[in-house]
Amino acid sequence: MPVTNFSFQEKYQYQNGFDSYFESEAVPGALPVGHNSPQKPPLGLYAEKLSGTAFTAPRHENKQSWLYRILPACSHPPFMPLASTNISSPEKKLHYIPNQLRWDPFDHLPDTDFVSGLRLLAGAGDPTLKQGLGIYVFAAGVSMSPQSAFYSADGDLLIVAQEGVLDIRTELGWLLVRPMEICVIPRGVRYQVHLPSGPARGYALELYQGHFSLPELGPIGSNGLANARDFQAPVASFTEDHSEEGNGENAKKYTITAKFNNTLFQTTQPHTPFDVVAWHGTYYPYKYDLGRFNTIGSVSFDHPDPSIFTVLSAPSSVPGTAVADFVIFPPRWLVGEDTFRPPWYHRNTMSEFMGLICGAYDAKKGGSGGFVPGGASLHNVMSGHGPDMESYEGARNAELKPAKVGGGSCAFMFESCLMVGVTEWALDKCDKVQTEYSEHSWGGLKVHWKGGQEE
Ligand SMILES: [Fe+2]
Repeated sequence: MPVTNFSFQEKYQYQNGFDSYFESEAVPGALPVGHNSPQKPPLGLYAEKLSGTAFTAPRHENKQSWLYRILPACSHPPFMPLASTNISSPEKKLHYIPNQLRWDPFDHLPDTDFVSGLRLLAGAGDPTLKQGLGIYVFAAGVSMSPQSAFYSADGDLLIVAQEGVLDIRTELGWLLVRPMEICVIPRGVRYQVHLPSGPARGYALELYQGHFSLPELGPIGSNGLANARDFQAPVASFTEDHSEEGNGENAKKYTITAKFNNTLFQTTQPHTPFDVVAWHGTYYPYKYDLGRFNTIGSVSFDHPDPSIFTVLSAPSSVPGTAVADFVIFPPRWLVGEDTFRPPWYHRNTMSEFMGLICGAYDAKKGGSGGFVPGGASLHNVMSGHGPDMESYEGARNAELKPAKVGGGSCAFMFESCLMVGVTEWALDKCDKVQTEYSEHSWGGLKVHWKGGQEE
């Protein structure tokens, strides 16, 4: 089924808001009025509920959507496990090590699509217990087949586009995700990733527990950081292809791949999974343009903790403690007086995975190979880190005028309260680990102590 049947206007009429109750119908009258599941839904559609939380979750956390579709999702033959894949392989075993890690940019994969190009880099916890997270890099050189769909039962996937454009068809509509944009595909939602401008690469975090929310703003007040109105959800968009199952050449032509406990399963069915004509609810995919982030910082001295740059936060059961925070370091003005302006040296009870979407990160100038767009770093629980020697000496001696840093750049961090393990692929097989990262970054730090005398 060609995907070019849809005009740009049909595909991308977004609904704006975060945690909003949305409704959308691609055909007028497809949404029932008042009833959620009338005896006969309008236009001969099936009503299907998609639950992102327990039915009984508190109202402010409850995420459910009603889908009105040509055939329900259950209409398929049994799933069969796929042979060893990048996700379901022994390499997913995690290694827990305290060393600082940094990776050169990960390879583009010209022959893979989004699903086969997902690589588990690190993780914590267990999707069967709905605890923890997985950290991925992805590379895709070809679009997914228009007769395929993927979903994960393991969690919500936050995708950070780094290079190339992702045109994502979901059951609930289309999302165009460009570099400097992110999207979240909720657990269970079926989708298909197209590459309208060639190869794509990026990062992803799968959240096994809970959902992302906007951080509380506290004394910041009612606006700032990521504003709710800038999040965009799709409008309903569907295809009619529901041929009867049989022995003809049209039989069983849509492939559905499921990620279930980090193992891939597949089935085929004779009807498109993208047949949702209308939907309403609070459980849906969404995207956000990082360029709209309202960055806030100090206007006197020192600088706030990096949590001031939090875009989205997935809270744990401990107040103020996140299973995963998504934090960015966008271009910003630094005006602090008598202040060491780069990030300070620190050791953190949280683990910090960082990636670079574009440009040069202001805390890392020297070192071997550096922190480069498409690469990554991991500073695990209590692994000391901070500016490299060159950045430290530069910042220590800089004349402190107001200065804009990070122009044309955006680094990000997945910060987690969990200790993350690293896969065999990340440590070895990918061949991107910078073995001298620590030595080159901090081995040459100078002693400025003069026996108690001022310099
Ligand atoms: Fe850090």
